[in-house]
Amino acid sequence: MLLTRSRTAVWHPCTQMKQHETLPLIPVAYGKGGWLYDHDGRRYLDAVSSWWVNLFGHANARINAALTDQLSRFAHVMLAGFTHAPVVELSERLSALTGGTLGHCFYGSDGASATEIALKMSFHYWRNSGHADKTQFVSLAGSYHGETLGALSVTDVALFKDTYAPLLRTSAKVPSPDARLKADCESNAAFAGRCAAALEAHLEAHHDKIAALIVEPLVQGATGMAMYDAEYLRLASALCKRYDVHLIADEIMTGFGRTGTFFAYEQAGITPDFLCLSKGITGGYLPLSVVLTRDSIYEAFYDDRITRGFLHSHSYTGNALACRAALATLDIFEDDRVIAENRTRAAAMNVKVEKLAQHPRVSDFRNTGMIWAFEVTSDDTAVALRIYEAALARELLLRPIGSTVYFMPPYTLTDAEQDFLVDGTLAIVESL
Ligand SMILES: Cc1ncc(COP(=O)(O)O)c(C=O)c1O
Repeated sequence: MLLTRSRTAVWHPCTQMKQHETLPLIPVAYGKGGWLYDHDGRRYLDAVSSWWVNLFGHANARINAALTDQLSRFAHVMLAGFTHAPVVELSERLSALTGGTLGHCFYGSDGASATEIALKMSFHYWRNSGHADKTQFVSLAGSYHGETLGALSVTDVALFKDTYAPLLRTSAKVPSPDARLKADCESNAAFAGRCAAALEAHLEAHHDKIAALIVEPLVQGATGMAMYDAEYLRLASALCKRYDVHLIADEIMTGFGRTGTFFAYEQAGITPDFLCLSKGITGGYLPLSVVLTRDSIYEAFYDDRITRGFLHSHSYTGNALACRAALATLDIFEDDRVIAENRTRAAAMNVKVEKLAQHPRVSDFRNTGMIWAFEVTSDDTAVALRIYEAALARELLLRPIGSTVYFMPPYTLTDAEQDFLVDGTLAIVESL
């Protein structure tokens, strides 16, 4: 039976495998739109976009067609010494989406590899520019930038990090502007200002050793969908400029419209020095990540000496199939005016979730763009697992983070599917 074979042959991610002695795996047979179907014909509405990657539903006809076309040409070629139209076109279009201020797209595979690339590039830029002492990184409390050792060093989620602490570089943490932490009478913007003052104190004291500040713009996902005011990004960007510290925007989760604008940083009217993208970039089809940076940073690597170049690589860098999926994804954004349509979708959803937000067991209901989150009050220490199981029984895929329940659905949910999600979740909260 597939489930037993999977437990034996596959080491599932972010999982205590023993849990699956009692918690059945869900064997997916196929997907269509927002739905996943298992081998027994049961269905689940994918309210977390399969770990925040899916944008336009499963088995999307337009992305499928682009992949089929590319498959008949070639799937992959190494990007050192070679190039191809999909990677060139994608790089040009991504750069254009930053207004041309960022470019020189450097590709990786998963999100964590983009984090590694940005950290290494920032350090190497300073080294090439005569500032070899700038070796430190700063991130926000509760940050999440991936699981590889460099990325984990700038992550601040104890559950993922503490075990590996002896392997990690120390990096400074500054207070998170997470709006839930503000004082009762304080505005979100005022609290953002208070957190930026703490960042300023840190940069003032240590800037000569600091290469970069890395942030998840507007929403810190893995710590529990902590949302914050764009004012923090405005202030942090200005401070980074003042103290000669790079600003790395990790938009691996927030990019591609999740926060309501194409990139979250746009809402602060800033441009970061490095932009990390992944997840939604291929519409949730294939692993692809990319780091964009400024001309001035690129130029510090451009030299006759090989060692001043960025000698980093991954075998699947710039994979042509993944680039075609990404190009098809960008086409959908343009053809369907997705950012504008999402404003209508989000407004409709915000009316529907009102009854959930008012529920006595629900607190801190919050929304940014196409992400909704709230805390549930429960004495059950395993409330996340309980909600996950209750959701499956109601044909919903929810994956709470501790006591935080969130929705990050594909952008294709119909009105009826939105109702199905909200009503099912309300019934689960009611039953706790
Ligand atoms: C903000 C952020 N950065 C980095 C990552 C790591 O991406 P990946 O899991 O593809 O390595 C994630 C994944 O959730 C993320 O949310």
